[in-house]
Amino acid sequence: MDTVKIFDTTLRDGEQSPGISLDVSEKLEIAEQLARLGVDVIEAGFPIASDGDFESVEAIAKTVRGPIITGLSRTPFKDVDRAWEAVRHADKARIHVFIATSKIHMEKKLRMTPEQVKQEAGAAVARAKSYLQDVEFSPEDGYRSDPDFMCEVCQIAVDAGATTLNIPDTVGFAVPDDYAKLIRYVIDTVSGDFVVSTHCHNDLGLAVANSLAGVSAGARQVECAINGLGERAGNAALEEVVMAIRTRRDHFADVDVNVRSEELARTSRMVARLTGYHVQYNKAVVGRNAFAHEAGIHQHGVLADRETYEIIDASSVGQEAAQIVLGKHSGRHAFADTLEKMGIHVQGDALNSAFVRFKELADKKVAITEADLEAIVAEEIGSGLVHRYGLLELEVRGGTNTPPTARVIVTDADDKIEAAGTGDGMIDAAIAAIVEATGVPGKVGNFQVSSVTGGSDALGAVTITVEAEGHKVTGRGVATDVVEASARAYLNAVNKFVRMRERGDEVREPMAGP
Ligand code: KIV
Ligand code: ZN
Repeated sequence: MDTVKIFDTTLRDGEQSPGISLDVSEKLEIAEQLARLGVDVIEAGFPIASDGDFESVEAIAKTVRGPIITGLSRTPFKDVDRAWEAVRHADKARIHVFIATSKIHMEKKLRMTPEQVKQEAGAAVARAKSYLQDVEFSPEDGYRSDPDFMCEVCQIAVDAGATTLNIPDTVGFAVPDDYAKLIRYVIDTVSGDFVVSTHCHNDLGLAVANSLAGVSAGARQVECAINGLGERAGNAALEEVVMAIRTRRDHFADVDVNVRSEELARTSRMVARLTGYHVQYNKAVVGRNAFAHEAGIHQHGVLADRETYEIIDASSVGQEAAQIVLGKHSGRHAFADTLEKMGIHVQGDALNSAFVRFKELADKKVAITEADLEAIVAEEIGSGLVHRYGLLELEVRGGTNTPPTARVIVTDADDKIEAAGTGDGMIDAAIAAIVEATGVPGKVGNFQVSSVTGGSDALGAVTITVEAEGHKVTGRGVATDVVEASARAYLNAVNKFVRMRERGDEVREPMAGP
């Protein structure tokens, strides 16, 4: 049985989705979870793109063990060198070099002749190979390239040392039959020892279908992202690719994947929470309703035999019905123990403040589920760093005929700062009060509100992007009240700005990704 390697690009292509901006510790948290999930390769970022990208790839390479850690690189040597610098501490490191091979990209974007592209590809792969054994090459916009020219460039890359050839459908234009033919053509035409990989975008909603067609045609690596994140309409959704291969054993009889599928739902929730990109309810495999049965006939059938209407066992993807894990009477020990079992490692001050949040929540909500715990603990340890400001009290007033006002008490070490604000609505007023207390005014961009579980006592989770002091960060907050969750999200962003200011982070325009 062959292994189809799962190459996760959530932290690179996925992070290029508009509005997503993850800091180093958030990327590390996701990378640790991807390792727990058992992916074969983590594309941790694009090291030349910005200092933040470099730092994240380097931190992941230094600490995450299990998967191969790779960084993306264009062909100039300074890119390749930077990628190597970032991944070199990994136990298993890879450099991923790409250059476009389609006519439109070569003429309009690169302004290079086909000869120049061939030369660049060979030289960059050779440069990467001078640093390490494991080199991947991608002819960008491969699907829209002239297949013979693309294979010529791929041959040059293999001759220079590439061990993986990734064939991107960069703009999501492919249909399964044609994409499979192209994969077959590469296998038949390029000679040498290499693995063929798929990288399909979802502009026509065909990314997963195309990736699977690629596997049937002989590809043995699939590039994909959790929840299908990625440029524009996204990449192939990792969870769908994995479960299609696992569920249709009859069709994919000679291949398997290494992924521990029971970790899929938790990984999906973590990525949704940290990116602010929520998962649609009816999303295959990880959607909240993927295993819910509404019609009486269906419910009856499932009670008689689950397989009447379910082709996947919910527990095999970690989607068993929201379990009650803890309640009002659970103590600190049970709390810490449950987190450990969930694979969340938190100690010291972070554990203490997470426990305080848990107790506050337990007073308002009878049954606390895994998803609730993940959400409140993430707020405390999300960055694993000390937060300068904390929210001690929030009071809001307002109504249809009363202008909204808010009063907050914010802690700053041992000090308590009281401030008030007014606004267009209660959330606006609460944010104005926090601006007054902390002296950090920011421009709020994306604003997402969602509920962590069902029920009117559900935790509300707020994710916002805030721009201030030349930086853009994502802030998150959870509470049973959405105004409080919004205030916490804004304060979370303020704490990030303060840390950036204290570290003296440079204000720099990030380079556009591929
Ligand atoms: O879509 C694409 O072509 C890419 C490459 C850089 C692999 O993301
Ligand atoms: Zn891509």
